Amino acid sequence: MNTTQVNKNINLVSNKQLFVKKIKASYFRNYTNLELDLSSENVVLFGLNGVGKTNILEAVSYLTSGRGIRKAKSKDLTFKKFDNSSHEDIYWGVHASVFVTNKIFDIGTGIRKNYNSRLVKINDECVKQTELSKLTKISWITPQMLLLFHSGMQEKRRFIDRLINIANPTHVRLLYRYEFLMKERVKIINNYNDNQMWIDAIECEIINLSIKIIESRKKFVLDMKNILFKSNLNNEDVFSDIYLEINGKAEELLDSLGEEKYHSQIMDILRKNRNNGISSFIGPHKSEIFIFKKESKQEITFCSTGEQKIMLISLVFKHCDLMESIYKKTPILLLDDIIENLDEIHKRALFEKTSQHNSQCWFTCTNSNAFENYPVSYKSIDVNKLQKNFSKKSELKYA
Ligand SMILES: Nc1ncnc2c1ncn2[C@@H]1O[C@H](COP(=O)(O)OP(=O)(O)O)[C@@H](O)[C@H]1O
Ligand SMILES: [Mg+2]
Repeated sequence: MNTTQVNKNINLVSNKQLFVKKIKASYFRNYTNLELDLSSENVVLFGLNGVGKTNILEAVSYLTSGRGIRKAKSKDLTFKKFDNSSHEDIYWGVHASVFVTNKIFDIGTGIRKNYNSRLVKINDECVKQTELSKLTKISWITPQMLLLFHSGMQEKRRFIDRLINIANPTHVRLLYRYEFLMKERVKIINNYNDNQMWIDAIECEIINLSIKIIESRKKFVLDMKNILFKSNLNNEDVFSDIYLEINGKAEELLDSLGEEKYHSQIMDILRKNRNNGISSFIGPHKSEIFIFKKESKQEITFCSTGEQKIMLISLVFKHCDLMESIYKKTPILLLDDIIENLDEIHKRALFEKTSQHNSQCWFTCTNSNAFENYPVSYKSIDVNKLQKNFSKKSELKYA
């Protein structure tokens, strides 16, 4: 492996709670055979555009549940040669040794023939993805995430729900079930409208789920507010000018009526609107997320691109503080292209924060010297050189 080690003198917190010690990726994106040996140190992946830096972060992101940092379709992850030569029966896989609070776990994941969803193994035992997200907590910031502030509420809800899921790995499952049942309800109304008991049962479960989802989001916002309140007492934290609210009709009704009355009121509404599709539906799929600057009350959509980036970093760091203080589990952080266009004050603060972060942080950047003036210690990996290894191997394999 072509890596260089850079060490600088600082107050380094070397005892990270969670870090990737070794990672192998096979037939994953542009790598046929990637292998990195690491330590608890933070990692900097540098290299030219398109050499495969983000692909490495993406491989790491599959060491927890979900669809990774790009929300990719599994078939897009499998290594391809873009010259129409097809490679049937090749499936991607990521295998890693991960240090989790004093123990090493062997994690394997990938797809196999005739399996629709990705398989997960922890210490050679097949497990559900939820087990993986209980074990490994991974959070990330990517340039694409900035776009979410310009897209609709759905993207903002997804972002917040992903943060909630890191703390509470059943949250996303509730959402999947909720969305599935909403579609099911429409299908059953269209095809079996005379079966009122069946529709009643589905609506009842939908409302129970919606209460759980709203409560789980409400708890998250409250926890975040407490964390923000504490960090606002520390004037030196440049990543604390952020505030978060979740509002909506369902939230208001649940607050004012309480669970029982909310349940019967929504049940009545659903019964009356059985033929109006899901648009008439009140529920957490319509919640509105507001992210704004605490001081000026400026909503994120109206902030400059640079400000949005700082707000996003602030939110993710505060979420890490929350994970640390309540759950004692700090996530691994994957920070893709984060230092581009960041001003000097925030860059320095970012390096200080990540050097004190209790789990491993991964950076990608195009410049090998990006960290030179900062007092941080990290493992620096030249991805240009990894890429050359890959080319030779793949040519041999597919010649
Ligand atoms: N399934 C795939 N098979 C082979 N190459 C891929 C696949 N998916 C993406 N790539 C290639 O990976 C490269 C981009 O890698 P990426 O990690 O995004 O680069 P960067 O170093 O700029 O972050 C592109 O050249 C792209 O064509
Ligand atoms: Mg990239």
